[in-house]
Amino acid sequence: MGEKVWRIGLIGFGNVGQGFVRILASKKEVLYDRYKFRYKLVAIADPVKGSVYDPEGLDEKKLIELIEKEGNIKSYPRGKKDIDSLTVCRSGDIDIVVEVTPTNVETGEPGLTHIREALKHGKHVVTSNKGPIALAYPELKRLADEKGVMLRFEGTVLSGTPSLNLSLEAMAGVDINKIEGIVNGTTNFILTKMEEGMSYEEALKEAQRLGYAEADPTADVEGWDAAVKAVILANVVMGGEITIKDVEREGITKITLEDVKDALKNGQRIKLIARVIKEDNKVRASVKPERISLSHPLANVMGATNALTFYTDHLGPVTIIGPGAGRVETGQAILTDILAIHRYSS
Ligand code: HSE
Repeated sequence: MGEKVWRIGLIGFGNVGQGFVRILASKKEVLYDRYKFRYKLVAIADPVKGSVYDPEGLDEKKLIELIEKEGNIKSYPRGKKDIDSLTVCRSGDIDIVVEVTPTNVETGEPGLTHIREALKHGKHVVTSNKGPIALAYPELKRLADEKGVMLRFEGTVLSGTPSLNLSLEAMAGVDINKIEGIVNGTTNFILTKMEEGMSYEEALKEAQRLGYAEADPTADVEGWDAAVKAVILANVVMGGEITIKDVEREGITKITLEDVKDALKNGQRIKLIARVIKEDNKVRASVKPERISLSHPLANVMGATNALTFYTDHLGPVTIIGPGAGRVETGQAILTDILAIHRYSS
């Protein structure tokens, strides 16, 4: 039998979609040499940046060139241009749907519909879209299992830094009764910059420019994004059944430059800490700014870097520190998940 050529359809060509395609453009040969992974990116659907379908495979370098020069891919030289996202989910010509549209934590849409449709049509789904996973993980997982396909979402927590795959796969067999850490890049970046003297507004603008912030940055600064990640950790890693309403949540909007300086004067730093605890088989979660001592392991996690400590039975505390947001960083999570599908299917 010849080697499988994975046919990939991408829904959403914003920060994460572009980061992923950039990685593909630079790693195509490496992916084959190292992992015997062959693929064709056959479709991109994005109502703003442009859509294109070519069964022969799109040219990643050309796509990036167009984005850099024109800000969209509408003048891509080949293929069918009127393809929409639902066609990608239902197409018989696609094996893996990558869903990277902007997150909506209230409705999960449009991602939720995309993921449901793709799974129903027997496609593997890889996503970094937090809303659908936080809102409907049990339903989506059941659907994936029924159809014998994989639903993978490493990029929803800590971008490409292993968190879900680390706890579920690399540490399979342990019990985890507490997870604690910094899970939002934008707020950690803002707090870091404020310490350097930058105003809150300037720091937020910079975080947006660097592609860390959500489309609506209120989701970051009010703690919603961190709360959503806490829900995902609670339900996926610790077997909880909580919703975002169950998370005790406070953001960083009330923190002033004076608060940041005052903390520092007292040998402390303000960090937005997410915590998930399992006690008597009940899981509860919180997200709030806390003053922690400079000697605390999380105190020196700066900028858009994130960190998570898993408290396990067999290993004690296990901590991972790495990027928590960013285009290529989240694109890496998509790649990791696709390579896992390839590995499990080989
Ligand atoms: N807005 C998110 C953050 C992106 O700042 O962490 C990554 O989930």
